[in-house]
Amino acid sequence: MSVLDDISVLMEKAFERISQADSLAALNDVRVSFLGKKGKITAILKDLGKLPVEERRQIGAAANNARSAIERRIEEAKDHLGSGDSRTFIDPTLPGTAQPLGHVHILNQVTDDICRTFYGMGFEIAHGPDIETDYYNFEALNFPPDHPARDMQDTLFVEGERVLRTHTTPVQVRELERRKPPIKIITPGRCFRNEAISTRAHVAFTQVDGFLVDEGISVSDLKGVLVAFCKAFFGEDVKLNFRPSFFPFTEPSAEVDVSCILCGGKGCQLCKYSGWLEILGCGMIDPNVLDTVGIDSEKYTGYAFGLGVERIAMLKYKINDIRLFFNNDVRFLSQFK
Ligand code: DAH
Repeated sequence: MSVLDDISVLMEKAFERISQADSLAALNDVRVSFLGKKGKITAILKDLGKLPVEERRQIGAAANNARSAIERRIEEAKDHLGSGDSRTFIDPTLPGTAQPLGHVHILNQVTDDICRTFYGMGFEIAHGPDIETDYYNFEALNFPPDHPARDMQDTLFVEGERVLRTHTTPVQVRELERRKPPIKIITPGRCFRNEAISTRAHVAFTQVDGFLVDEGISVSDLKGVLVAFCKAFFGEDVKLNFRPSFFPFTEPSAEVDVSCILCGGKGCQLCKYSGWLEILGCGMIDPNVLDTVGIDSEKYTGYAFGLGVERIAMLKYKINDIRLFFNNDVRFLSQFK
């Protein structure tokens, strides 16, 4: 056997040992035994000087090639070893890890549903700021300073005259100020009150207010739009009960109950055996409010209403604790994909 044959046999052996090596230490052993000071390829390179010129060139080139090839294989094998001492395999045929997709929060879904229903009846959508002035939140809505009606809404003051809005009704004032009748708008948004947090109350909650101002608007228009909304939202069979109430910005005012969606009005735990569930406040816009924004209350009249979105979502989806909306527990939220 010639030296050239020896070199190719050595190279094959080295490759075989590299392919079997399962640790960095084993790869190092291969390097030492072929390329180290006393390695087999090194020995051939060392003896080159003893050979005739012609053979020296040929064998030298072959031995150098073998050395580079073995080194390259060792480097490649290293790349395939994990940081530990065992091999890591990537199996491209295994199924991947699915990235869970988010979805619209249930409160936003219900808000969108409510808005869509009114949008279908010709209402535009308007938004206002979460931080309001006392003027828009109270004064322009006919709550005089120090009037006890302000106690109905336990208010979070930010600084001076600024408050976290306690309802979305201030957007009514903002829109009435900058438009001319006929004005037909709904105003979804977040509201804030200094409530003790419980199963039924939270410091942050969502409302949708709606209103219409035009010539010749009466209570029958208000009733008509609310009945249409409740039937679209809760089903054709739902009944409405208008109960007289008080809000500073409407006169007359009412609260509206719908027949219990669980028992249909027979009486159950949800409706506290009354057969009715309260869902909104409403009324005819107080002439004082129209005068304040510069709309002639002799010529124009209007109705307004305000819905609590959490309340409606809880009824529609039979949710028994308002805090669930805000705890960000995916087990709860993902039920409403
Ligand atoms: N803003 C009232 C509240 O938060 C709800 C309300 C009642 C809104 C009557 C209205 C309305 O627009 O006309 O308690």
